[in-house]
Amino acid sequence: MLAIIGGSGLTQLANLDISHREIVRTPYGEPSGPVTFGNICGQPAMFVARHGYGHTIPPHEVNYRANLWALWSKKATAIVSVASVGGIRGDLAPGDIVVPHQIIDYTWGRRSTFHEGDGCTVTHVDFTHPYDELLRNQILTAASMIGEEVRMGGVYAATQGPRLETAAEINRMERDGADLVGMTGMPEAVLARELDLPYAAINVVANYAAGRGESRDGIHFESIEDVLQNAMGRVRGIIEQLVAN
Ligand code: HPA
Repeated sequence: MLAIIGGSGLTQLANLDISHREIVRTPYGEPSGPVTFGNICGQPAMFVARHGYGHTIPPHEVNYRANLWALWSKKATAIVSVASVGGIRGDLAPGDIVVPHQIIDYTWGRRSTFHEGDGCTVTHVDFTHPYDELLRNQILTAASMIGEEVRMGGVYAATQGPRLETAAEINRMERDGADLVGMTGMPEAVLARELDLPYAAINVVANYAAGRGESRDGIHFESIEDVLQNAMGRVRGIIEQLVAN
């Protein structure tokens, strides 16, 4: 069963025909909110809002371990993460939808493994390719079936937040090879890997990254709302087709 983790702009899935909600207990504490179960086009799916249903949990305080554990324990077989990002690469503009293929992790101090604590054996998961290739391609197929353009590939820079970046930090990330920047991609992706759950992301460019394009003099989130709303509608369509396939 496909699980969707929704980020800013996607706190619910309008096309999910809800059967029930469940508060899932985990050894890692509380998930961001109840898991919503239902059907999309007759196919079962589950959903959790990463920042809580009222959008109250900031990126650095999301209990990523509990969210992933909850979905895994409820028998999710794959995870699609939806999240907004800032565009670093010159050809990315607000409203663009990107399916990234790589990650650079700049976060710190987050609980980023299940393999710690009493009785755990030292475990090093392979993370060479952080996103599941098959799932990425399935997203691309779904998007093209409904005529939505998605940008395949991109290096996602995960920052700590909740503040936005400085222009110099964005320049450094670009030198590092990053194309887009967001605050929630890690440790979510690696926790999915530790649970052996195929994981891919659909990133919506909400704004030019700090110091770029219209964000040269600052990032103003008021203008981002409209872009996000429209793009998330398109993302819902892609997810609907993905589940139907
Ligand atoms: N930086 C980090 N995270 C973000 C941004 C950004 O510019 N836009 C949306 N999420």
